[in-house]
Amino acid sequence: MSNFEVWRAADPVSAGKIGAEIISKTIINKPDCLLGLATGSTPVPVYKELVLQHKKEALDFSKVRTVNLDEYVGLPADHPQSYHHFMMDNLFRHININLQNTRIPDGMATDLSAHCDQYEQQIKKWNGIDLQLLGIGLNGHIGFNEPASVFTRRTHLTNLTESTRKANQRFFTSIDEVPRQAITMGIGTIMAASQILLVCTGVKKADILERTFFGPIDPMVPASVLQFHQHVTVVADDAAVKTILQKHPEFTD
Ligand code: F6R
Repeated sequence: MSNFEVWRAADPVSAGKIGAEIISKTIINKPDCLLGLATGSTPVPVYKELVLQHKKEALDFSKVRTVNLDEYVGLPADHPQSYHHFMMDNLFRHININLQNTRIPDGMATDLSAHCDQYEQQIKKWNGIDLQLLGIGLNGHIGFNEPASVFTRRTHLTNLTESTRKANQRFFTSIDEVPRQAITMGIGTIMAASQILLVCTGVKKADILERTFFGPIDPMVPASVLQFHQHVTVVADDAAVKTILQKHPEFTD
């Protein structure tokens, strides 16, 4: 496990602070870095802390570039549940980032497949992702790379599993409103990032976190591919490391 660094936090807020610290170090070392960003509940405390660091410590985003992992197909950017909306609300609106330096897949693109190719080209043009922030789904998905995803794939259109649609139903008024498709960076895109920052909080994620790092590398647990990555930093709270620590007490040493 020498390619893993593990930070243990008391709760999601502390995990957010540690995650933000790692991101801000990247920005300070390389002001024009390319950050891969995530949405969902997990990164919210990370973004809150980054906003605080911008306001209190003048953390400078003026040259930072960002690419988001994914976006629902069929939701316009101004839809309250679109990831465009999420990023504006939770981060971009509150910092001095140049929106021209940000990219989020366009779930309304007329030619979705051509759009996915352009997205990959943009990442290449920006010389690859320096730090990719990830959450993890209950079924082990990263981005929207669901179980049985091909490890080498790049940005593509994907169908969401019923388990993911149910998990995300909490953001919509009914399950029927949850989109069935998304554009996601592929596992190949994620694995090409120089560093991965996986934040995992809450007891519900304890089992999948254990399977990710201690189970076999298996496309049915997409995040398990991270065992192959050369530089993974895991930030997990006490609740999320519970199952791991029962079996592998050395994990957070
Ligand atoms: C979001 C994303 C997803 C989430 C995952 C966990 O951009 O790519 O993989 O990270 O579904 O979501 P939360 O954090 O809401 O549990």
